[in-house]
Amino acid sequence: MDDIYLGLAANGEKQYLHLSRANRHGLIAGATGTGKTVTLQCIAEQFSRGGVPVFLADVKGDLSGISMSGSPQFKNAAILESRAKELGIDPYTYHDNPAVFWDLYGEQGHPIRTTISEMGPLLLARLMGLNETQEGVLNIAFRYADDNGWLLIDLKDLQSVLSATAEAASELTTKYGNISKASVGTIQRQLLAFESQGADRFFGEPAFEIADFLKLDDQGRGYVNVLSAAKLMQSPKLYATFLLWLLSELFEALPEVGDPDKPKLVFFFDEAHLLFDDNASPALIEKVEQVVRLIRSKGVGVYFISQNPIDIPEKIAGQLGNRVQHALRAFTPRDQKAIKAAAETFRINPDLKVEQAITELKVGEALVSTLEPDGSPSVVQRTLIAPPGSRLGPVTDKERAIVQSISPFDGKYDTAVDRQSAYEVIARKAEDAAAAAKVVEEQGVEAQRAQPRATPSMWEKAGKAALGAAAASAGTMVARSMSGRKSGANPMASAATAAVGAVLGSGALGRFARGLLGGLLR
Ligand SMILES: Nc1ncnc2c1ncn2[C@@H]1O[C@H](COP(=O)(O)OP(=O)(O)OP(=O)(O)O)[C@@H](O)[C@H]1O
Ligand SMILES: [Mg+2]
Repeated sequence: MDDIYLGLAANGEKQYLHLSRANRHGLIAGATGTGKTVTLQCIAEQFSRGGVPVFLADVKGDLSGISMSGSPQFKNAAILESRAKELGIDPYTYHDNPAVFWDLYGEQGHPIRTTISEMGPLLLARLMGLNETQEGVLNIAFRYADDNGWLLIDLKDLQSVLSATAEAASELTTKYGNISKASVGTIQRQLLAFESQGADRFFGEPAFEIADFLKLDDQGRGYVNVLSAAKLMQSPKLYATFLLWLLSELFEALPEVGDPDKPKLVFFFDEAHLLFDDNASPALIEKVEQVVRLIRSKGVGVYFISQNPIDIPEKIAGQLGNRVQHALRAFTPRDQKAIKAAAETFRINPDLKVEQAITELKVGEALVSTLEPDGSPSVVQRTLIAPPGSRLGPVTDKERAIVQSISPFDGKYDTAVDRQSAYEVIARKAEDAAAAAKVVEEQGVEAQRAQPRATPSMWEKAGKAALGAAAASAGTMVARSMSGRKSGANPMASAATAAVGAVLGSGALGRFARGLLGGLLR
């Protein structure tokens, strides 16, 4: 298996990202226009060719071109070909990569949905920025739904359950703890705000199966999963929470592998500073830091892309073993600080003045240091980055549609299904109550008692559906309990997750993992 060729160093040495160390995470940094996206593309397509599936967030739409072959007719061709010549790549060939487009909003790719119960109260609370009291109320609403066998799938399910919780507050308070109606109101307003950002699309069925990110094509190449993130970026909290959710799903689904020969999956987070913007709570940063640290031994490599390396919190930056630092500007004191910080992370090269070099690097050139096969960082080298073989720049709408049509997931997620869940059950309950009240009013209590219920089997059906689902996904429940998620009636599990859950649940390792992740998202 070939390591990933990053480019040629000034001292004539070829620079590689070693597949066996690729799960030790990485950083691609540099000012705007210095070559970060091209570097990402160069790395991602080699992972794919080496049989490693890739996930990347495409913030500007320009990464979608990874699905298409480059071409001598294309506008960047001259630049890429001259770079290939400089590096002695002969022949330089263009090629495409197997790609799947995803989009939370379902516009530019297959929709990715999850259910409210899969997301769980902890992440939802984070997403909505709830305080401790409000988070407590949200937890109670989840338990109340659970106890009633109400499925929590979409946002309107959660709205209904919150209303029902508020209505039954006095009765529930003794059982579960204090429920302030003001808190319920706050959560409901947050949910509405959320909905207006389009988050309602994200919650529903069919729910995404994380194993679908681990696919190889029939030639053994890893699929490049491109998440269209241009619109998502406008809701930074949703973006951050979504990525954290993905990582925790992966953490749950994948077995422990230590340091594998090559990663199981590699994640690239473009515009990574958004994960850690000013609003990010210390708790969220802590969680990201933990997930990133722990997911390494599941064989998942996480690569952050950022204009300014000091935007990545130190605790996380310290875990990023493979580094490609493009040019930084030196205009402001903050720039100077970034340069100094970036320089300090490298293993010293006596022939290279790192701080000076960072400001002098040309486009597509970078300071590179990766982890050696023995785990030590390589000496930093000034490196010309190798050109990718796929297209630089976006696909057209027509090309996107073609890629979609040949995707292995064509038809699997595209149509939303809205089956009977908490919202419908609670609405019917209200209807039944209203009908009963009407009979009482018009014909008296006796007449009402004598009446068959308007929806006699409704509760039975709901109960049975919940029970069947719970039984079918016993393994999932084990997996869910790891993340502190409560979803006794959660039917949305993939078989893979269920199986992993069952394995994890069976021994000491399971208890250990549950302990870890239970604390992880709390
Ligand atoms: N390795 C390379 N070889 C040849 N040309 C390159 C290379 N890297 C970048 N370039 C040239 O520089 C241009 C800008 O690169 P790129 O889009 O990767 O910048 P960026 O750092 O991602 O910018 P932004 O922060 O604005 O997203 C490319 O379109 C290409 O013409
Ligand atoms: Mg870019």
